[in-house]
Amino acid sequence: MLQGKHIIIGITGSIAAYKTALLTRLLIKQGATVKIVMTPLAKEFITPVTLATLSKNTVLSDFFHHDDGTWNSHVDLGIWADVFVIAPCTANTLAKMANGIADNLLLTTYLSVRCPVVVAPAMDMDMFAHKATQRNITTLKNDGVSFIEPTSGELASGLDGKGRMAEPEAIAQWLSDFFETKESLKKKILITAGPTYEAIDPVRFIGNYSTGKMGFAIAEEAANRGAQVTLIAGPVQLKTTHPNITRIDVKSAQEMHDVAVKLFPEMDAGILSAAVADFTPETKYDIKIKEKQSLTIHLKPNPDIAQKLGSIKTNKQILAGFALETNDEMAHAMGKLERKNFDFIVLNSLADKGAGFGYDTNKVTIIQRNGEKKDFELKSKKEVAKDIISILASCLDRI
Ligand code: C5P
Repeated sequence: MLQGKHIIIGITGSIAAYKTALLTRLLIKQGATVKIVMTPLAKEFITPVTLATLSKNTVLSDFFHHDDGTWNSHVDLGIWADVFVIAPCTANTLAKMANGIADNLLLTTYLSVRCPVVVAPAMDMDMFAHKATQRNITTLKNDGVSFIEPTSGELASGLDGKGRMAEPEAIAQWLSDFFETKESLKKKILITAGPTYEAIDPVRFIGNYSTGKMGFAIAEEAANRGAQVTLIAGPVQLKTTHPNITRIDVKSAQEMHDVAVKLFPEMDAGILSAAVADFTPETKYDIKIKEKQSLTIHLKPNPDIAQKLGSIKTNKQILAGFALETNDEMAHAMGKLERKNFDFIVLNSLADKGAGFGYDTNKVTIIQRNGEKKDFELKSKKEVAKDIISILASCLDRI
């Protein structure tokens, strides 16, 4: 799985740095090209000579070569890489990364890379559990950084607790899984996101509280992992910058429906996260409605985009949707999975604190058509997007 992949390994000043020699060896054996960047302190724990020999590449640590004035380009390194793995990563480097500090070559590389970044922390258990470290980890997760959790066991301090760097085999496995899902996700994916606005007159509409954050996070994650994404967005304040995302802005459910139905046949998958209005005014006034004693607005049902796409879906396509429920969550979600012919459904409940419209976090249960059901803890929408895209990748693999 790692044949021809370009991997940067970042090493920081932790005793676990000795294990990175083995990690380097494992990656090289599997066909990867490895370049190593070390912080100055990391060199106290393992020598650049060892790592240069194992990686078959010069190890980078200084900004400049003092003898001839040439510099090590972290920018070129950032463009070259398919993934940047920082193992071991100390509390100090985590804190600097979370705050954009760039006082060594590893950190300038972190700020320059365009590829996904994964961190394997290593530190004493109390440092790992400290509020400041946990806050920095949350910040980095929100920035899209992935984590390979440290394990529990005997630490260099002699204490026993959570903080040991994951074993090199586990890190190599993570990287190989990462590239495997990336392969599965070299697909075209349609995503709907945000609310729809149903016009009453030129200045008023019926809408809902959806901000589009969940759908945009899914689009970003899919694009990061190699998919060509078409994002049909209702009226939202969010920006998209990823080159693999083509964004089409719409206002009403009918417009969203027309674009989705036109494009879905050429897609490999669809994830419908938009909070589409179920009803729209029967009459849309061309001019602003003036003050009246009372006003009755008659509503008619909007087309159900999910149901339509479910009905035209072929057995070479995957379709997934959301269910936001306030009561009888599981029964409603299962009903929607069936009715709309979804392959999986993401259930979030308004009863859960921190889940639903507007929040940066979400707590979901994902139910697949084959009966598999997984409850996830409350996490940032960016992390939820990773879970959703991983399940999509496994569904795409099965067809
Ligand atoms: O509104 P409801 O709870 O039925 O939404 C469930 C799923 O169906 C969501 O994935 C939503 O994006 C989709 N949906 C749709 N078109 C509608 C209503 C809902 O695509 N008109």
